[in-house]
Parts: sequence; structure tokens; C-alpha cells
Amino acid sequence: MNILILGSGGREHTFAHMISKSSHCDNLFVAPGNAGTAKIATNVSISVTDFEAVKELVIKEKIEMMVVGPEDPLVNGIVDFFNQDEQLKQVAVIGPSKRGALLEGSKERAKEFMALYNIPTAAYESFTKESLAAGKEFLTTLKPPYVLKADGLAAGKGVLILNSLEEAQKELENMLSNNKFGSAGNTVVIEEFLDGIELSVFVLTDGENYKILPTAKDYKRIGEGDTGLNTGGMGAISPVPFADEVFMEKVEERIVKPTINGLKTEDIDYKGFVFIGLIKVGEEPYVIEYNVRMGDPETEVVLPRIESDLVEVFQKVAAGNLSEVELKVKKEAAATLMLVSGGYPEAYEKGKEITGLNEVEDSIVFHAGTAEKDGKVVTSGGRVLAITSFGKDFPEAIKKSYQNAGKLHFDKMYFRKDIGFDL
Ligand code: AMP
Ligand code: GLY
Repeated sequence: MNILILGSGGREHTFAHMISKSSHCDNLFVAPGNAGTAKIATNVSISVTDFEAVKELVIKEKIEMMVVGPEDPLVNGIVDFFNQDEQLKQVAVIGPSKRGALLEGSKERAKEFMALYNIPTAAYESFTKESLAAGKEFLTTLKPPYVLKADGLAAGKGVLILNSLEEAQKELENMLSNNKFGSAGNTVVIEEFLDGIELSVFVLTDGENYKILPTAKDYKRIGEGDTGLNTGGMGAISPVPFADEVFMEKVEERIVKPTINGLKTEDIDYKGFVFIGLIKVGEEPYVIEYNVRMGDPETEVVLPRIESDLVEVFQKVAAGNLSEVELKVKKEAAATLMLVSGGYPEAYEKGKEITGLNEVEDSIVFHAGTAEKDGKVVTSGGRVLAITSFGKDFPEAIKKSYQNAGKLHFDKMYFRKDIGFDL
């Protein structure tokens, strides 16, 4: 069949890498894609939120399956757009409906959902411009640090963690009254700070049945020792050593099952990934957030560990027969290392030539922010390349990624040298 992947990052290159190996895949398209996907698929230069352009492409290329990478088109309702269109409704789309995507699109909705289904998460209250005074008062009842979350999508920047009460009250006002995050901050969730170690659990569901995918942990801060500004993710490992059987049993019983049951109870059309951001406090799991897509760079370590044919698995998801799938997972651990543009996550330059791509051995290089220019591969984003390797454990895997990082070069290239340092 002909398959389309929406998106342009390392996550989408990883999807393309896995799907292109399937015997069920005839022609693979990625929109808009990058220089890495161009090598194994046909890139089509359209925006992931231009639904009419996506429709035109799907019809022209006789696409039968579409995998949605990023959250924007999902939160904007691309699945509903497909389901309501006579020419598109036969397409197997991997991604939740708009109502499902609200679990990521609104932090308040996610918190209400968790409260309703008794899913462990930090205590919270939410506030708007009208209740700013009450919000400031609520902050005085909490202990520092203070956690403030803009309700809507804010490109991963909408969460503030502040140590002083004064600062927290000022930022609350900035969000509610001064449009700090635009309309995403019209409602702010204030929640209890949870002290623990984070990990991500990925669930694939057809809305009825589910499969828990390998666990992963990403490294979000730009600086070593988890310091400095938040990024999209500087590296990841899978599996997470501290997510042992006892812990995962708790995650499944207290979080995964009630989440899927909640979706079912509310009759939400959800055929896709649930990315559960967790924090382990003592021995107990709490949900930090839901995302309605795969993580990036977690995808770069989770998917390559899956041995089952991904297209077959997605066909079962679309048909509502996921229970028929037996997911095969590699025993080996995986690690990925992000090479980023100097300056990222703040201002950085683009268009730098990347060299050494052909010298990499025993690792897979997934492209994130790359483009082709005059026959050369150049940088075109903050996160540029993800180097994924396997090993008997993650230290062995990440060592290979570091060795290969030494063979790759572009002007002002930067990477963290301590992926996995805390484990
Ligand atoms: P989110 O966008 O909700 O994932 O939040 C971004 C980051 O803020 C998370 O990855 C955590 O590191 C941190 N965070 C969010 N909520 C809390 C919380 N209640 N307690 C401690 N840290 C949090
Ligand atoms: N790596 C975190 C995310 O994809 O949101």
C-alpha cells in the first residue's frame, strides 16, 4: 500500500525507516520530511496543518495509510477531517480524533480526565484572568517550587517552575493578563511540585485494546547534569532500568488501564499513541502529562527496538483488532544522541554543511533538522541529527553513538556528553 507520514523531524525519519522495511509498503511519502526521509521516501513540501493540501496529496497518490507525527494537526482535528470526508474516510489514520487530542491540547482537560478516572497525578487548580486574585492566593497555600502550566499548546515552553512565591505570582499575572503564551495561557493550571525521576511510557491503542511499548527516558535540558534551558530533547535511552516489573505493573493497573477505559467510557475515537509522561516518586508512578503522539527523541529508541512489522501493527490498530497483535521487542537496549546547532534552543544559524554521514558505523543516523541544498546535506533546524545505537545495556549503546558523533561535523555542532548520567 501507499503510506504517508506527516512531519519532518527525527521522529518522522524513524517512522519512515521502520515503515520502509515493511513488505506491505509500496510507496512511502513524507510531508514535508527532511534530507534523511528523502533518501528512503518521497518528500512532499506541504504544511502538516494544511488539511486541503494533505487531502489533495492523499487522493493523487492513492494513500491508504497515514501516520501523523506531531500534535498540531491532531489537536486541529485532522482525524475528524478524514473521517468526515467521503474520499478520505477509507484511509487508515494513525492518530486520535480531536476530542482525544485534547488530552495534550488542554492541560486542564488532562487534569480533569485524570481526576475523573482516579489516575494518580499532582494536585491542582486552574485559573483564568477573572480568577487571577484567587490564583495568587492559592499559590500562598503551596510550598515552593511552584508549577505553572499554560493550558494550551505552547511548543513545549508553557510550563514554568519557580522557586519564589513573588516570582510565581508575577508569572501567573504575565500568563493570564499579559498574554505571555498568547491564548494558550488564557487558563493556567497551578499544581503541586512532584519530586522524583521522570520517564515516558508509550501506549498504542485502537480505542479498545492497547499495547505498552518499550519505556524510554529523554534528556530535556540543554546542559550537562540537566541544567539550562529546556529543549525538545537532547538524547534518550530505552528501556529505562528503574522501570522494573513491579513498577510497570503499577503503571499498567493505575494509569494505562484507567486511561484507556476513560477514553472508551467517553466514546472517544482514539487510534494512535498515548505518550504518558511519568514521574516516579519513591516507588509510585504519577502522571506529569499526556501527549497524543510519539515523543521525539524517544521514538528514535523505542521504534527501532520493535521487531514486529509496524505496518501490520498499524493495520490492526485501524481495524480495531490490536488484541490480535503480539508485539515483539528486541532485548537489546537502545540509546540516541542529538546533535544540535550551537545556540539552540535560542537563536542559531542554519544552512551549515554536514559531513561524515557516510563514515558512521554500527549506528543509525536519523535526520531531524536537515535539508538538501546543491547536492549537500545542510542543517535546517535546532536539533539536527539523532544517532541511535544498540548494546547489551544503554551504556554500551550510547558509547557507540558518541564514537560516531566524532565522525560527524557541522559548524557550531553541540551535544551533551552525559546522556544516561543519572541512572
Ligand atoms: P510538561 O510540559 O507538562 O511535560 O512539563 C515540562 C516539564 O516540567 C516536565 O517534564 C517536568 O520536568 C516538569 N514538571 C511538570 N509538572 C511537574 C510537577 N507537577 N512536578 C515537578 N515537575 C514537573
Ligand atoms: N521529548 C519530549 C516530547 O516529544 O514531547
